[in-house]
Amino acid sequence: MSIGISDDGKLFTIDTENTSYQMKVTSQGHLIHTHYGRRIYGDASINLERKDRGFSQNPTPEKKLRDYSIDYLPLELSGFGSGDYRTSAVTIMNGDGSTCFNPVFEGYELKKGKYSIEGLPTFATDNAETLVITLVDKASQVRARLFYSFLQEKDIITRALEIENDGDKDIRILKAMSTSFDIAYGDYDLISFPGRHCYERVENREHVSWGCKRLGSTRGYSSHQMNPAFILAERNTDEENGEAIACALVYSGSFVAEVEKSQYGSFRVQIGINDEAFSYPLAPGECFRGPEAILSFSAEGLDRLSYNLHMAARENLIREIPDRKHRPVLINSWEGCYFDFSAQNIIDLARDAKTLGADMVVMDDGWFGKRDDDFSGLGDWYVNEKKLKMTLGEMVERINKEGIRFGIWFEPEMVCEDSDLYRAHPDWALTVPGRTPSYGRSQLVLDFSRKEVRDNIFEQMSRIMDSANIEYIKWDANRHISEFFSRGAEDQGTTGYRYMLGLYEFLEKFKNRYPGVILEGCSGGGGRFDYGMLHYFPFIWTSDNTDPIDRLSIQRGTSFFYPPETMGCHVSASPNHQDGRETPFFTRCATALTGTFGYELVPSRLSDEERSIMKWANEYNRSNWEIISKGRYHRLSDPEQDDYYAWMIVANDGSKAILHTVSKTNHGNNRSVSIRLRGLDEKAWYRIGENVVSGSVLMYSGMLIPDRKGCYEAGIFIIEKVE
Ligand code: DGJ
Repeated sequence: MSIGISDDGKLFTIDTENTSYQMKVTSQGHLIHTHYGRRIYGDASINLERKDRGFSQNPTPEKKLRDYSIDYLPLELSGFGSGDYRTSAVTIMNGDGSTCFNPVFEGYELKKGKYSIEGLPTFATDNAETLVITLVDKASQVRARLFYSFLQEKDIITRALEIENDGDKDIRILKAMSTSFDIAYGDYDLISFPGRHCYERVENREHVSWGCKRLGSTRGYSSHQMNPAFILAERNTDEENGEAIACALVYSGSFVAEVEKSQYGSFRVQIGINDEAFSYPLAPGECFRGPEAILSFSAEGLDRLSYNLHMAARENLIREIPDRKHRPVLINSWEGCYFDFSAQNIIDLARDAKTLGADMVVMDDGWFGKRDDDFSGLGDWYVNEKKLKMTLGEMVERINKEGIRFGIWFEPEMVCEDSDLYRAHPDWALTVPGRTPSYGRSQLVLDFSRKEVRDNIFEQMSRIMDSANIEYIKWDANRHISEFFSRGAEDQGTTGYRYMLGLYEFLEKFKNRYPGVILEGCSGGGGRFDYGMLHYFPFIWTSDNTDPIDRLSIQRGTSFFYPPETMGCHVSASPNHQDGRETPFFTRCATALTGTFGYELVPSRLSDEERSIMKWANEYNRSNWEIISKGRYHRLSDPEQDDYYAWMIVANDGSKAILHTVSKTNHGNNRSVSIRLRGLDEKAWYRIGENVVSGSVLMYSGMLIPDRKGCYEAGIFIIEKVE
């Protein structure tokens, strides 16, 4: 049994392969958190001290309970207004206007199988149980149900929260964290993944000091600015050693993550829907369900933590396209053509794609409505045949005749004021009556919380999908929400949440209607790169920044939680269109080749040498796809600190590995660079080019990287076990 419950029903221990997560009910009925870390046997609450502490409230006036206070106990779910002054996990506005919520244990249930959450994406497995613990605030009869499940071999604990109003008055949920727990002791660094458009998810590591650190997004989307995922690591934890806990939300909307170091040095750790612009009314008998959160623990450093998360995303979250051995290598029209193309340009790209060994062309923005720039057209999903100079069906037929598959770009959640859709339904945009809305890229967000809006867009998209052999969609979203106001809703505190439910419902329906179509997620690059999206999109355009040097930090940061094949990575022109940097073609390939691979350029503008590298690269990505999409990814350096980034992916049976290195600088009389590899068999021998070297030398002594002859030089090494 992976979920152990003591005979008195008061101690709960969830064991995975290498970890234990433990909670206990106290004498006063509070659920406390006693352990999350390496496997333990027995009750860890022995490690907690009771003390009479000044200014820490007690539940009764009795002397014997002077040493009991929820102000310092490590709680599993904290309320508000009952003596715990740390940041709360659940805050309720009761029917009588009070904000007290004092959740105490009422009971538990152990169920076969893993729970799911209606309308929201979750990790799935056939091989688990669910523990449901019910806590109740006795005065209001509001119940919080905590759901726990696990992915045994991946050392993952999954959690969810449900709040039910069993009282007789209307209440309002002001805050509801999907996961929350307190760690009684320790000294931690917080690793988060902040960024901005064109520089997303770059690792940030800081010591957690007194007070509460809040990370999050209020943008309606998970955002470029902060990823809904963080790590709490012991101070000396590195890639290979030390303890670390990962925490992430399976949700694509506004979120908040909080890490609070309390007066006594304990840590409160939580993540959930952002409480700003959120307030959820619950009438008697109604229930609110929050998104899933996942946790993972590693005692073998960050490398192992990422491996747990990667394998869980691959096997328990992402729904792959059936019968596809590798993802199509594609040429996307965006950076090559922008808005300036006709069908002939796309057909020419397809012809080139064929000669160069690519599989697909994707026609990006600009093919529909009135869309020759980014000021108009969104919302009008009909083909602009005047611009293309033929029908979509004809164009796709000609592309397919070249032996090339076809994909198309949509931005379904958006509308421009200059569009037929907006002129007919101005109230379908998320704007507030009487206020001038804010514009992002001259567009507004459509109110996906409303069924009639979703149905209209679904119907428009289906008409396009049914008119041609479309095998791939790039789904973009180029602004965030600012006015959380739905004209179809009575209560605006739920608009952001209902928008997400609407979007997930749409995606589910779309996937069912077009099960064979490959979906790539995108929000101006990585503005919505999260586990929620990955449930629908097996990969996401990582960043609008295609500069291979900036991409080193972006892709490395992304790799902490998300496996390499979830990252859309394309080779673009040099000088790069985002930052003007000039880099060799091979380097651009080396950076992009370990993701879902493609191009954003016009191949006919390349030199013969570049075209031959392109042919080789396409074959490389295809022939190593098994390793890229299933193997173990290792970060071997940090490009924010080192002169270079090196990363490798090792096949799960250890028979082969690929190693990529890209240098960021060059100097006269360079220092030699030697890299210690990881994940090999120390007793085995490996062929690298002409050399045969033992795994122990490669891992414990190192591998010399050939001297750099120019700036931004790259190396790709194939490491094969010699039998
Ligand atoms: C932002 C995307 O990330 C780009 O790749 C491109 O599709 C543009 N939008 C098109 O408007």
